Amino acid sequence: MAYKEQADRLPPASMALAAAVQAHLGRASRFVDGKARNWSLFFFFRILSKAQLSAKLRQVATAINAQAAAGVEPANPDDKGSPQAPAQLFLDWLKVLVEARSDDFWNTLRAECGKAGIPLPAEVGDDEDAYELLFRALDDFSTRSFAGLPASFTGPIKAAVARAAYVTLSDANNFNAFVAKFGDTAAAAGRKALSGGLVGAFAYELLRQFAPAQSGSKDGVVRPAVLRSEAVEKGLKQDRDSVEKQWDPVPINFAFTFPGLTALQLSQPTLASFPEAFKQGMAARADRLGDIGASAPENWEGVLGLDCVHGYFTGGYLVDGDDLPVSKDFRRKLRDDVCAFNDSNGSDGWGDTLRTILAALCLPLGLEILHIELGEDPYDVDKEGSVVRLPYRTEHFGFRDGISQPFVDMSLADPLPGGGTPGRNRTWTPVAHGEIYLSEPDEDGNAHNLPMHPLLREGSTFLVFRKLEQDVARFRAYLASQRPGDREAQDRLAAQFVGRWPNGTPLAVAPQAPRELGADPDGLLNDFRYAADDPEGRRCPLGSHIRRTNPRDIGGTNDVRRHRILRRGMAYGGSLLPMDSPGDGGKRGLLFIAANARLDLQFEVIQADWINRGEILGQAGVVRVVASCQCQ
Ligand code: HEM
Repeated sequence: MAYKEQADRLPPASMALAAAVQAHLGRASRFVDGKARNWSLFFFFRILSKAQLSAKLRQVATAINAQAAAGVEPANPDDKGSPQAPAQLFLDWLKVLVEARSDDFWNTLRAECGKAGIPLPAEVGDDEDAYELLFRALDDFSTRSFAGLPASFTGPIKAAVARAAYVTLSDANNFNAFVAKFGDTAAAAGRKALSGGLVGAFAYELLRQFAPAQSGSKDGVVRPAVLRSEAVEKGLKQDRDSVEKQWDPVPINFAFTFPGLTALQLSQPTLASFPEAFKQGMAARADRLGDIGASAPENWEGVLGLDCVHGYFTGGYLVDGDDLPVSKDFRRKLRDDVCAFNDSNGSDGWGDTLRTILAALCLPLGLEILHIELGEDPYDVDKEGSVVRLPYRTEHFGFRDGISQPFVDMSLADPLPGGGTPGRNRTWTPVAHGEIYLSEPDEDGNAHNLPMHPLLREGSTFLVFRKLEQDVARFRAYLASQRPGDREAQDRLAAQFVGRWPNGTPLAVAPQAPRELGADPDGLLNDFRYAADDPEGRRCPLGSHIRRTNPRDIGGTNDVRRHRILRRGMAYGGSLLPMDSPGDGGKRGLLFIAANARLDLQFEVIQADWINRGEILGQAGVVRVVASCQCQ
């Protein structure tokens, strides 16, 4: 396999890490061709137990009246094993994601459906009628022809669609013919699928996940599964042409919560060995994190922060690349669907319909989707209403984001200056693997050995997910109130809050005005220090965001090197708020995602001690945010 040669170049410890886990965390926002993904759906799920799955399948059987249609009696449910154990289908789906192996999945699905009284054919062959029917059904869904579900969704249609889905998806030839109907390339297929809003997007995500296993090896090349490492991803680049023609090669990330691992029935000693911050969950740490008042857990959206959330998985899309712009309505449709899905009180019932359809699509995976978030890189809209991509990733206050990351050397890319730990003579040392990945030595040379089970630990990391709203209109109004009538001064004040100009130029390097950034601005963007270059905060204010969250060489390298996080967030809310808008009612913000090995020492210290509290490492408290700066 082409990607194996790449992986073989890595040093042994890193190879195991990179190849086995490191599921696209290293540079999550990149496609194999180097383009950044610009939107991503986050599916928060609950794992069904065996008992819940069989009850739900029996409901389906009754609803589609499949027994009557097929004239069969349901077999006795198989009572073996604890009914509270996770549905086997969920475990088999993980094999599809991790190993691109689907045989067990189809066998289990056939057996479970048989028990519930929904007969599925044991042998599947070429069947054009089946994939044509399935394709039409998806088309109907996306044009809302089934908006009246479930009343108008009559039994015979449902039974036929369910059978068509099984026949199409479980057979390599049918699968390939079906996928080809979406378009010649992955981009075309994605565009077609996403024009169907959330249902299309979700169906597409499922197809993508199953594609490596279902489409079979082509030209002797076996494809890796969608949950894969950056080392594998890099190798895939060589096969890009053939890969792209087959399916969207974007990998997915997958994370479990502690309640999720409990639902998987890990052993008690293993569960008990997880660190306290992870076991308790973020809502229980609200006081420490400063999540109080309007930000208190009881005000978090939907089920976020609740124990019913067992994990999330997330893919990513780039269907409106530079070549083919799409309209803002295209983007809004998906956003509206996600809102409707999350808001069960929505008035027109579309949210309930979406929940019903997604529940049906997810049942064979042994899970239920509880909540969805849509991450979108902010964009501009031109006069024709088309989406215009910005030259770099931007957050909603208008600043370039995703620049500075801890550089953990996996032999996968050249080190970016400024990403490591500051060393002597203005050098940067790569951050120890163990700061991000478990089981590897951290900056102090200690391997982090919790949880106790090595399979759960090796190459794993702890992910933090937070939904942070940004009140853009109020931020701008505040700037105007502080520097009335002087737009330039307002922009400078905003830059002082962040510590960078909107295009990313650091104030520590250029305090008076942003620099023009060339094609390869990495050195300029991140190769700077505070203690050495700007100890009193005359260029970059002591309280600026980037200085508080990564004080670099302040206090000596020892103080900062154990408190780094790998940020993997994405904005939400769609287009940037136009400069002179008083607000348009839309919510905007950041889906903040960070990876680290020690939640208490890394994320929590930055959030609770450095961002929220006063003095840090002799730096400014919040009341002295820009007072020290000489560049006003
Ligand atoms: C809505 C909330 C936030 C916004 C809009 C925001 C925005 C930004 C921007 C514009 C940058 C500079 C670009 C870059 O260096 O990549 C940055 C850097 C950073 N942010 Fe945030 N951020 C937010 C919340 C947070 C939170 C909650 C944390 C940590 C708990 C955090 C940690 C960091 C870190 C570690 C850096 C890199 C600093 C460096 O290495 O120089 N941010 N953020």
